[in-house]
Amino acid sequence: MLMREIIRKKRAGEPLTDAEIAFFIHGYTAGQIPDYEAAALLMAICFQGMDERETLTLTLEMAHSGEELDLSSLPGVTADKHSTGGVGDKTTLIVAPLVAALGGRMAKMSGRGLGHTGGTIDKLESIPGFQTALSRERFLRQVAEIGLCVASQTGDLAPADKKLYSLRDATATVESIPLIASSIMSKKLASGAQCIVLDVKCGSGAFMKTREDALHLARAMVRIGQGAGRRMAALITNMDIPLGHAVGNALEVAEAAEILRGAGDEALRKLCVELSAQLLALSIGESVPVCRERAAAALCDGSAFEKLCEMVQAQGGDPAVLEHPERFPQAKHKVEVLSPRSGYIGHMDAEGIGRAAMLLGAGRKEKDGPIDPSAGILLHKKTGDAVACGDPVARLFTCDEAFCAPAQELLLASMQFTETPPASASLIYDVIQ
Ligand code: URA
Repeated sequence: MLMREIIRKKRAGEPLTDAEIAFFIHGYTAGQIPDYEAAALLMAICFQGMDERETLTLTLEMAHSGEELDLSSLPGVTADKHSTGGVGDKTTLIVAPLVAALGGRMAKMSGRGLGHTGGTIDKLESIPGFQTALSRERFLRQVAEIGLCVASQTGDLAPADKKLYSLRDATATVESIPLIASSIMSKKLASGAQCIVLDVKCGSGAFMKTREDALHLARAMVRIGQGAGRRMAALITNMDIPLGHAVGNALEVAEAAEILRGAGDEALRKLCVELSAQLLALSIGESVPVCRERAAAALCDGSAFEKLCEMVQAQGGDPAVLEHPERFPQAKHKVEVLSPRSGYIGHMDAEGIGRAAMLLGAGRKEKDGPIDPSAGILLHKKTGDAVACGDPVARLFTCDEAFCAPAQELLLASMQFTETPPASASLIYDVIQ
């Protein structure tokens, strides 16, 4: 087979055969196909797309390109969730223990973040002593024993995706639905869970800016998962506003613990209940309304919080911080940001707020760069809230005072102040099964 011919076919808009896709993935992962040929094919896919069969084959080939977790030894039905990422998104820290408290088996591999704030692993590592790099045996043992483990992704999970993602990043070929869907789903399939719920974010702080694009991506990923024999659901959710009030690693863990103790932000609680209900319904075969009620109850009766404490203990962390947030790493500087005028917060640019948190040290400025677990932003006011001139709208947390002025400037530039309150926006736009 010749790569030149495969590139030509895709450039002309013809579907590739399963054998051609397999040839490309095997050859590229093994280093036998050069970057320039792979880049040309990726660009052709960006312009011509891929049909459902091609996208599934591409995903399966990438999922099979390295280590795959075999969860079949675990009792019960295994579950996983994935979010396409947003500002203040700490849902995994809430949904994973909530589902496990209700009998689900959460076997979750997570990543670190680049830009904005950290990923789930960075957030968990802000808990003193918490270990995320676990052997496969320990990961499986913990899921079997307590129904829950969140560990860092091993280096060899879907290596084809790792290599292709770097190339896509360097060649402006990230923005393609079949490439994004296959990239995300190859890692999910290789992680082995039988039930997967996806939270596809859309809006200013998300990868997908429009509802239409988010729907296309969600549908493509649900079809891939179902084609691979997994039970799937996806939610399309609002990321025009940061999720909850905390943006930053330790701050977000503290906010997640608050929700698990039955308090905290209403929208964050509602989204976590919905994600958990969908995942439980797939896992235990009850209806979504029944699972929704059970999930809401587990937040109030303390069982979901207990499950998070169990996980933290099992992974070497100090669960006491979850009840005593002052025991988290503390930022040296805490600065209030005051409203420059009276009125309402008419709009927030979630991405700008994420970038302000990154400037304070909460996110990585470069790959593998350092992260400050204590840095971030606590939003006192959000879209729709009334403010008087001089009211505190947010508090900045950082270890370097010099970061405060640029972060404050960006934060205020990301908030639009209006005379009248804005129309209220939906939190969950669509559910796809
Ligand atoms: N996240 C991924 O894992 N892959 C993509 O292609 C885009 C976002």
